[in-house]
Amino acid sequence: MQYKRIALVTGANQGVGFQVSKELVANGFTVLLGARNLQRGEAASKEIGPGAVPLQLDVTDRVSIATAAERIHKDFGRLDLLVNNAAISNTRKGSLSLQEYKKITLPSNVSLDEVRAVWETNVFGVLAVYQAMLPLVRESSDARIVNVSSGVGSLTTNADPAYSHRAFYSPVYPASKAALNATTLAMMIELEPAGIKVNLVSPGFTKTNLNVI
Ligand SMILES: NC(=O)c1ccc[n+]([C@@H]2O[C@H](COP(=O)([O-])OP(=O)(O)OC[C@H]3O[C@@H](n4cnc5c(N)ncnc54)[C@H](OP(=O)(O)O)[C@@H]3O)[C@@H](O)[C@H]2O)c1
Repeated sequence: MQYKRIALVTGANQGVGFQVSKELVANGFTVLLGARNLQRGEAASKEIGPGAVPLQLDVTDRVSIATAAERIHKDFGRLDLLVNNAAISNTRKGSLSLQEYKKITLPSNVSLDEVRAVWETNVFGVLAVYQAMLPLVRESSDARIVNVSSGVGSLTTNADPAYSHRAFYSPVYPASKAALNATTLAMMIELEPAGIKVNLVSPGFTKTNLNVI
């Protein structure tokens, strides 16, 4: 029987995560489509077809993460690829223009609730999923972890006055991705001795629901 690689993609029911899942399935993976809303995960899996398996997974919910890890353990016993893709850019969906949102997310006036909500998903969510899934990743003979970041979180790029998006660097989404980058480096260092590569990727600007303020 052919060896099927097992992948988990968080936030896989739409956008970049959906497309990544589709391409992984086309490349022979069995892909667990993590979705905080199981029905959306089921619909996305159905659209992709055989090889796509819906999995309820809210990266901000400890019970959901633990239940997902338990199910993967029971059904597959390992994870060959973990893609930490789920993220949010703000909590205001559809209520403000980009310029208006920028005005209320300066370090001097940003709501700490807004910062916490975004960091909860983009930083703590990734770390929580990493911790829960790592024992399964260690069971693979050829494991990889991919954390989906963003160019707007690069400290080097934003330190350059010529960078076009610099005016939008804020403690909310951009700084959450900077914190994710920093946390990923710690994961890379931790897993170096085990030969497990942890990669950071940025898909570049893509028209998805993430870019709705
Ligand atoms: N689009 C871009 O231009 C761009 C650029 C650079 C980097 N990125 C990165 O690419 C990744 C994917 O973004 P996208 O553009 O595909 O965004 P998207 O279309 O908004 O998709 C985000 C996905 O994350 C899920 N999600 C949000 N909160 C979650 C939670 N608590 N638990 C589990 N899933 C959750 C969403 O679920 P629901 O459907 O339930 O909301 C959705 O499936 C993100 O890490 C983003 O930062 C995107």
